[in-house]
Amino acid sequence: MFDLRAFNNWIKAVLINKYCKLRNGDLHMIYDLPSGYNSNLLHVLDIGSGHVQGYNKWSANPVKYLVAVDISAESLEEYRTRWKKDHTYTLKSVAMNASSPDLYSAVEHTFYDIVSSQLCMHYMFDSQKNVNNLLLNSLENLLVGGYLLLTIPDSLTIVKKIRELGERKGDYYVYGNDFFSMRFRNREFERANGCYGLEYGFYLEEAIGERDTVTGEIKYVN
Ligand SMILES: C[S@@+](CC[C@H](N)C(=O)[O-])C[C@H]1O[C@@H](n2cnc3c(N)ncnc32)[C@H](O)[C@@H]1O
Repeated sequence: MFDLRAFNNWIKAVLINKYCKLRNGDLHMIYDLPSGYNSNLLHVLDIGSGHVQGYNKWSANPVKYLVAVDISAESLEEYRTRWKKDHTYTLKSVAMNASSPDLYSAVEHTFYDIVSSQLCMHYMFDSQKNVNNLLLNSLENLLVGGYLLLTIPDSLTIVKKIRELGERKGDYYVYGNDFFSMRFRNREFERANGCYGLEYGFYLEEAIGERDTVTGEIKYVN
């Protein structure tokens, strides 16, 4: 689990570091700042920020002001606790569903150099309306020349695994290993709602759902 988390965080960090540096450099040029003038200029909107790992990704970058949005007030509290220990940027946190049409006013119409949503957008795929709202909430707040950074699980790999290797268990097709498991009711995905609202169960050790240590039975999160 440690290695998997480190790998995920590494991918996100590479993406974030690259575009933060690019945009900060562009702003230095736009404002015609003297060379050698090292200033953190970036305004960032982090949607589905999560808790401590969210903080770590931004603290290494030239961020001036960051708005962290997460549906979980508890995660934002943990984020703030970490941020309080030492920080290089100003933080505002907003506990809200990121697909809510009210997000735009909740983040106070500040415009952002970077809008980022790391491994969060898939939670909006219960309906097309929610995906559209998330994109609108991101783009309405993004400055011209800014960057929208998104990471999302690869649905094609998920479908391939469940079709080719999913085992029939009761009413479900299940695929996984000692650390994670996913289950779907069927392997032919309903086209009625396009790619939206396809419910599945997910378990990830120490993170999502639970496994009974005696029976090995998994409680999935849908
Ligand atoms: C897998 S974690 C990723 C956290 C962080 N972005 C990272 O990459 O480390 C997904 C986060 O999205 C948040 N989330 C899920 N649904 C959400 C929603 N509708 N609106 C806002 N945040 C949401 C969860 O609370 C969780 O903190």
